[in-house]
Amino acid sequence: MCGIVGYTGYQQALPLLLEGLKRLEYRGYDSAGIAIVQEGRLALHKKEGKIATLEEHLNGNSASGTTGVGHTRWATHGAPTDLNAHPHLDCTGRLAVVHNGIIENYLELRRGLAARGHRLVSDTDTEVIPHLIEEFYDGDLFAALKRAVPLLRGSYAVAAVVASEPGRVVAARRDSPLIVGLSGEENFLASDIPAVLSSTRRTYILEDGEFADVRSDGVFVCDGAGQRRHKEIFEVKWDAAQAEKAPYEHFMHKEIHEQPKVLRDTLRGRISGDEVVFPELRLDPELLKSCKRLFITACGTAYHAGLIGKALVERLVRLPVEVDIASEFRYRDPLIGPGDILIVVSQSGETADTLAAMREAKARGASVLAVTNVVGSSVSREADDVLYTWAGPEIAVASTKAYVAQVLVLTLFAIYMARERQTAPPELLRELVGELPHLSKYVTSVLTREEEIATLAAARQHVSCTFFIGRGLDWAVAAEGALKLKEISYIHAEAYAAGELKHGTLALVTEGVPVMALATQPALFEKVVSNIKEVKARGADVLAVTSEAEGAITEVADAVIGLPKVHPLLAPAVAVVPLQLFAYHAAVARGCDVDKPRNLAKSVTVE
Ligand code: M6R
Repeated sequence: MCGIVGYTGYQQALPLLLEGLKRLEYRGYDSAGIAIVQEGRLALHKKEGKIATLEEHLNGNSASGTTGVGHTRWATHGAPTDLNAHPHLDCTGRLAVVHNGIIENYLELRRGLAARGHRLVSDTDTEVIPHLIEEFYDGDLFAALKRAVPLLRGSYAVAAVVASEPGRVVAARRDSPLIVGLSGEENFLASDIPAVLSSTRRTYILEDGEFADVRSDGVFVCDGAGQRRHKEIFEVKWDAAQAEKAPYEHFMHKEIHEQPKVLRDTLRGRISGDEVVFPELRLDPELLKSCKRLFITACGTAYHAGLIGKALVERLVRLPVEVDIASEFRYRDPLIGPGDILIVVSQSGETADTLAAMREAKARGASVLAVTNVVGSSVSREADDVLYTWAGPEIAVASTKAYVAQVLVLTLFAIYMARERQTAPPELLRELVGELPHLSKYVTSVLTREEEIATLAAARQHVSCTFFIGRGLDWAVAAEGALKLKEISYIHAEAYAAGELKHGTLALVTEGVPVMALATQPALFEKVVSNIKEVKARGADVLAVTSEAEGAITEVADAVIGLPKVHPLLAPAVAVVPLQLFAYHAAVARGCDVDKPRNLAKSVTVE
């Protein structure tokens, strides 16, 4: 996720672009840049770091002009450096492009461009775009953009300017947001509404496949065939701070609702036919085939994703997997060495315990594969190889969208290894791969049940303790559900393997104690129903989360949250969603500071 701003009008573009970028910093902030059309040439300034760093650098540097584009980056392809920061230029240095999204076929395009004599200097996927536009440019930037864009595969919001056409910013979008802001004799483009709110409240949203030709006296929008699109302008009512989260009150809520898109983004480019592919994987294929055991280490939510990874690798790859909390792994003198693979899972890529565990494993000769969300993070730099989760910046302290992305990447990895090592029936692997693209719609369907879940949560806001129970994969999901409830609502929550309760903890289950029971695994369904009966007999208030929302379970549970039918091995990414919503609404009902829970930090960079 990156942020784009474009401006053309009668005012100096620079302060407006910087103001807009600051409003988009929530979308990512590892580097930033601007390009301004200036008397027949471009003024280009790009800096690694936050927008404040770019601003400091611009002090004393001339960048006057009334047309320009700006970008705040959340690195995907290439580390966050000055060179990889946007805007990117064509060979002439007179055409600049900013981009949000991922160009899936950039390697192929890059090879073609290089063969035709273009000089590409960054590691980004974006840089192919200005060079493609350059090939079609004959004095009309909009026409050239319309010819270049169909060559791109993937997701993009693109904005471009050229030195020879002052007063013009052109744009295109597919699967990445882009809005237009209108204000008399000046017009704006941006990734999101907050970027333009200090100048105008009159906006509209560009749809997938649309192109915009933005000039100071008007904006022309058309489809790929050049057919004009008439856009309905709407007046924004919220203030800028609200708009970053809009229409949600909290980032956590927004991020829960972003999960269908996160699943699509994380899957993009990783399925070919009926197989999982990892074009980015560089780990020695021989090692993947020969390794005898696998380790996973992480903290908090990422550790819970690791538990799912273990279950799936053991089931599909028939390889023993040890999962450790990173702060334990590093001090337990782990039996790990050459020939072993350690997978570290970390949203931020900066968690001190995870980093230390990874260094410990490397020092002992193991190969490290990172699953992380942040390109250029310490984990991504130090690991031998990285599989990224494309969740975009996660702002709420409580992790939600990063978790589903981690679960998805680990699922893909298990399927990939199972094929490489031929350890699972090909028809099962095909069935799983066929089902993966549907996950996003299953999550969407759970999100439509939010009101019902909010009512269940609000009714239980005064309890002092909640249990989450399940078996197999459901137990791992229960662990994540309990953590979510604890950290944001401050209600004590405990996850238990459903069959283990009777060995002690059942003593705590008394009249009215909420028990959230997960039952998504058909093979264990009857067992879980029996465990529900055990807690019911002690007076528990049972909420069942299940894809079998009929028959036995409805008879024993006090309330049932039904899930769409999903392959049991893929159920975790769907089953976690009601638990996230439950925690969120319980916290809201209790008046807690949802996005910044007490005593916690988003990135734990100390031991
Ligand atoms: O950035 P990381 O994934 O390494 O962070 C690990 C944990 O600190 C993190 O998941 C934490 O548990 C979250 N607050 C959970 O919501």
